[in-house]
Amino acid sequence: MQTTQRIADFRSDTVTQPTPAMRQAMAQAEVGDDVLDGDPSVARLERLAADWLGKEGALFVPSGTMANQIALGAHTRPGDEIVVQRFAHVTTFEAGSAGALHGLQTMTLGGLEGSMSAEDLVGVLRPNFIHCPKTALICMEQTHNMAGGRIVPLASVEAIAEVAQGAGIPMHLDGARLANAVVRTGIDARTWCRPFASVSLCLSKGLGAPVGSVLAGHGAFLERARLVRKRLGGWMRQAGHLAEAGRLALEEGLAHLEQDHALAQSIVHSLADVAGLEVEPELVETNMVMVGLGPGLPAAQAAIERLAGAGVRVSGMGPRRLRIVTHRDVGPLEAERLLAALRALARECAAG
Ligand SMILES: Cc1ncc(COP(=O)(O)O)c(C=O)c1O
Repeated sequence: MQTTQRIADFRSDTVTQPTPAMRQAMAQAEVGDDVLDGDPSVARLERLAADWLGKEGALFVPSGTMANQIALGAHTRPGDEIVVQRFAHVTTFEAGSAGALHGLQTMTLGGLEGSMSAEDLVGVLRPNFIHCPKTALICMEQTHNMAGGRIVPLASVEAIAEVAQGAGIPMHLDGARLANAVVRTGIDARTWCRPFASVSLCLSKGLGAPVGSVLAGHGAFLERARLVRKRLGGWMRQAGHLAEAGRLALEEGLAHLEQDHALAQSIVHSLADVAGLEVEPELVETNMVMVGLGPGLPAAQAAIERLAGAGVRVSGMGPRRLRIVTHRDVGPLEAERLLAALRALARECAAG
């Protein structure tokens, strides 16, 4: 009997299906109208997330992009400038929202390693001068997506924070995959988040919820964030059905991340000796593997299509770079298929 093989989907950790426990919790969630007078399941998730991140409160929102954009809008006024890591999601993949939604100007710093230096930051802070925009916010990302899931070291975050604090500028962390950094380093989320006035955390990436992010912070920021969420239409009604899946993601999702990281390690080490594929095992720190396509191999889009023909999906990060992301719904069997497909691609191209 012929069995249909599931697609081995390594495009992103966003592709995970809700677990049976999540589906059950969603169906049974106690809900209310969160806009009118509150939803108990949303309130429970917000409390849990705020405590985990070490902040006074949190808002449940539909996506990581909206969490970041609410933070930008809440910390700033039109005409302000924000300093953002050069390859961060906020400036690369949010469709120009800082300008389009909030009238902000963006200054970018740092390189593909995902960090920025405190010295460079000092050099771009604006003086209090009528001709200049005000530097109103500094944004970092943890783990860093375009850097291949790398962790920005705590010492580097703290050096940036010292400059920001000295200048009286708040910091926002796009912590979409903060949980991966927590699991990999053993440093708790509260410590990672302490230097930041606000933090966004995606429940729907490696943690495995179908939908949702939280945005955490304190006092006046939270009040303003509620207003910006309202303006963006991100306040949801009986959202407790989604929040219950988010609660399970936070309570139980971290346990799987170590396996995701181990699978990424095994993939990168297996690819290290495949001629034509360029990998750097020492840079694989969490659940992503970046693969450069050397001379003789097709460009990323063509490679993606050929791999798809073998039932394997990966994504492109630049014209000659593939991104492989491990997550709860792929394991050693899917990794074997991925490796076989990549080896075949490299072999066929070498043979001309
Ligand atoms: C670092 C980072 N921040 C934010 C987001 C946005 O999340 P969403 O797709 O939920 O808007 C992503 C999505 O991939 C991301 O990688």
